[in-house]
Amino acid sequence: MKTALIILAAGKGTRMNSDLPKVLHPIAGAPMLHHAMRAGAVLDPDHTAVVAGYGAEAVTKSVAAYDDTATVVLQDEQLGTAHAAAQARDALAGFDGLASVVFGDTPFLRPETLEALAASGADVTVLGFEAADPGRYGRLVMEGDQLARIVEFKDATEAERAINLCNSGVLTAPAPLLFDLIDAVDNDNAQQEYYLTELPRLARARGLSVAVVACDEAETLGINSRAELATADAQFQAQARDTLMQDGVTLVAPDTVYLSLDTTVGRDARIDPNVVFGPGVTVESGATIRAFSHLEGCHVSRGATVGPYARLRPGAELAENVRVGNFVEIKNAELAAGAKVSHLSYIGDASVGAAANIGAGTITCNYDGVMKHHTDIGARAFIGSNTMLVAPVTIGDEAMTGSGSVITSDVEDGALALARAPQVEKPGMARKLFEMLKVKKARQSRGS
Ligand code: UD1
Ligand code: CA
Repeated sequence: MKTALIILAAGKGTRMNSDLPKVLHPIAGAPMLHHAMRAGAVLDPDHTAVVAGYGAEAVTKSVAAYDDTATVVLQDEQLGTAHAAAQARDALAGFDGLASVVFGDTPFLRPETLEALAASGADVTVLGFEAADPGRYGRLVMEGDQLARIVEFKDATEAERAINLCNSGVLTAPAPLLFDLIDAVDNDNAQQEYYLTELPRLARARGLSVAVVACDEAETLGINSRAELATADAQFQAQARDTLMQDGVTLVAPDTVYLSLDTTVGRDARIDPNVVFGPGVTVESGATIRAFSHLEGCHVSRGATVGPYARLRPGAELAENVRVGNFVEIKNAELAAGAKVSHLSYIGDASVGAAANIGAGTITCNYDGVMKHHTDIGARAFIGSNTMLVAPVTIGDEAMTGSGSVITSDVEDGALALARAPQVEKPGMARKLFEMLKVKKARQSRGS
């Protein structure tokens, strides 16, 4: 079946108290809008239209970053959810399949739920849920198995407010019918807004069928404040950790591991306590991430070990059996199989050959204050502790640098480079110096 997705995301989100549009606030490292788009993707929509208004420029960029085939339509004034959905009319011109309207601030819809809505067979289908505390949600007024109407909290009578079955905001109808019904919506209500919730009543008046599909309340969680954002993130984390463990990943202390929407971890990998996964991380089977490591935009291959206390930044590519130890930062660098950077190093804008050994305290000096430069380290090279590699520079295969060297020119394959002041030794000088200093100190304390 042909489907289209309309995502409403024009609201400011006043209660977020933020310059950032509400739908761009992140949950698990990804804007909540991307969560909604991801759920909608299961319908394999022929069209996705995102309705933007407040912060439209930023919203447009964010939409394109997730799906460059999606259309962004503008709602200049936020006159209500029906008015918002109406803005997608031109983007869906000529489309006669099923349209699903979802909210950009409702990130946890399960793909299965959207599928169930699309398969309901009614003319209009509304996603509802039984609320533990219905609060200010719109209420669903049923008539047998048909939805008679939705009443917004502000317009509801006491009796209507006593209903626990609530409106999630998600609604499905064939696109031509959707826009036809929207045309009949007026703003004669408490908020003087064009409500999408008017559609069921209008459809019933025409003798059309209106069904309700129910889902779990957790799925329809709408985010309106920072506190709700934090709750939503916690809810996402709990579920994502569970999924990883079911997929055969060991989480030693699951509650302390922070995941992103796109975190991928292979079977039999092990994640120790207090590890943070920023966006864009892939960890293959059998890798180990030790405690207090922070990973972002990187790839860790089979059998590799990272941390404790390691930082992998975007572009860190670790091949099989690489070891990255404590207090090591890797950025935009490829480490070939079996390379080791065990302690206290910065490797940025570099390639490190297979089985190379990078000594403690090594730094790739990649930035000259204006530009970034590359460091190339050959296979099986041995970089002595505390070497400064002043990029651009190439260290050959099986080459060696002496500890404490400041390497400013290329080193050939197999060569040893020493770039440090030669050692000077003065016999007996240390003892003499101690004596002189003690005498000086004694003189000072007598004088004071
Ligand atoms: C809406 C529903 C309510 C439901 C609740 C579920 C209506 C009239 N009410 O209320 O029945 O229980 O969601 O969370 O639909 N938006 C626009 N343009 C606008 C207005 C809203 O794009 O002119 C977008 C918002 O950015 C948001 C979504 O639509 O993503 C919902 O709007 P919001 O104002 O939060 O509706 P609620 O009052 O929560
Ligand atoms: Ca809302």
